[in-house]
Amino acid sequence: MSVASSKADRRMTAIERAVDVLISSRGHAGPPRLERACALLRRQSPLHWVERPGVRPFWAVTRYADVGSIETRSREFAAGPRTYLASEMSEAVLQRVTGKPQLVRSLTEMDPPDHSAYRAITQGAFSPTALRDMEAWLSRWSADIIDRAAARGDACDFAADVALPFTFRVIGRMLGTPESDDARLARLAQAFVSAEDPRRRLAEAPGDTMRMAMLALRDYFEAVIADRRAAPREDLATRIAHARPHDQAMPHYELISYFILLVTAGHDTTALALAGGLEALLAAPDQFARLRAEPALLDSAIEEMLRWTSPVRHFMRTALCDTEVAGQPIREGEALALFFHSANRDETMFENAGTFRIDRSPNPHIAFGRGPHICMGLQLARMQMRALFAELLQRTKRIELAGRVRRVESPFMSGVSALPVRISFCAPRRSAIA
Ligand code: HEM
Repeated sequence: MSVASSKADRRMTAIERAVDVLISSRGHAGPPRLERACALLRRQSPLHWVERPGVRPFWAVTRYADVGSIETRSREFAAGPRTYLASEMSEAVLQRVTGKPQLVRSLTEMDPPDHSAYRAITQGAFSPTALRDMEAWLSRWSADIIDRAAARGDACDFAADVALPFTFRVIGRMLGTPESDDARLARLAQAFVSAEDPRRRLAEAPGDTMRMAMLALRDYFEAVIADRRAAPREDLATRIAHARPHDQAMPHYELISYFILLVTAGHDTTALALAGGLEALLAAPDQFARLRAEPALLDSAIEEMLRWTSPVRHFMRTALCDTEVAGQPIREGEALALFFHSANRDETMFENAGTFRIDRSPNPHIAFGRGPHICMGLQLARMQMRALFAELLQRTKRIELAGRVRRVESPFMSGVSALPVRISFCAPRRSAIA
């Protein structure tokens, strides 16, 4: 073998190893390894054709410019039918159980004309104007959740005891589900999107976990739909239960899927951004001290937390025609996985991309995606992060890490699922939430 060809072989092997890190459920469990893998791919093979046993082939897209370009070229790249990476085996199980190629069919799986008709059902509730009414409640709820943490003493798991219940109540309140159901619904929603995580699964096999979570969520929301059809209320559940996209009743599968999308997308992402944001501040004490000294930097700190954590690892698109991306020909029918975390660490877009800087400006991160599928809850997520961090900064003197940080194991979600901290509280308790 010539020296040149053995060098090329070694390069290919390094790239293939990087792809393994990028796509495996545990890939995001070791951040330095992940950063190295993404950097190598962006540099040497930014559109990389991936062939792995048991997974249908696809392009791994890791550069900011390419992810953004594909997201906005929705006439050439469809959201369905392949929305996220799944093994051929789980795709086959799914087909047998649901008769469909996907676990759910909601906004993330839809293309025109369904996508806009279905998005219009709830989009108004997430507009800045509609959300303005929530601001005062969110601030009281932030105070209350910090009170609850303080009442337990100085030690807590910020991810499980604060971020998760905090974000779940927000979407639960909008949907109209009672707080007493939050813990159970959150558990089901998390098992559904991160079935590979041993701490989140409901059964040994990820496929069984997904099926169990899906059936339990279906039963729960069938009861909610029946209730709201009989007795409408001022909540999102009523809006969805009565919706008539294209002037027709919503099919049952899409109806249940709508609830499952909101209950999953609506809390775990923001909880991971909150916990990962606090972890980043703890790992950069100079940044934390500056934020305490200059609270006016909170908005830019939150954008940096979103860039830094990128809780949604990827979404997929499928080429609708023969086309190209950055000079790379893409054939009709080929699938592309868009890796948001890698795009948000792209050195050609972000100066010192590997450094967490609360004053980064501009910060055009792509954590919420882009184009017609851009996150519908992005303003809500920002509001929640602002409210909780404002309260945390005001009510605490010091926060320090007090145990092992754990990360979600999932090919789809990424971030901190356990963040044990010790908190010194300063201000007296406020009155409980109304
Ligand atoms: C930090 C928090 C969040 C992050 C990082 C995040 C991220 C994302 C991403 C990457 C997408 C796909 C975008 C694309 O394909 O271009 C998305 C879609 C979506 N998100 Fe979020 N999200 C967050 C919070 C929320 C919240 C609080 C809600 C509230 C319900 C929400 C609801 C949705 C919905 C409904 C979609 C589907 C939009 C569509 O396909 O038209 N998200 N989100």
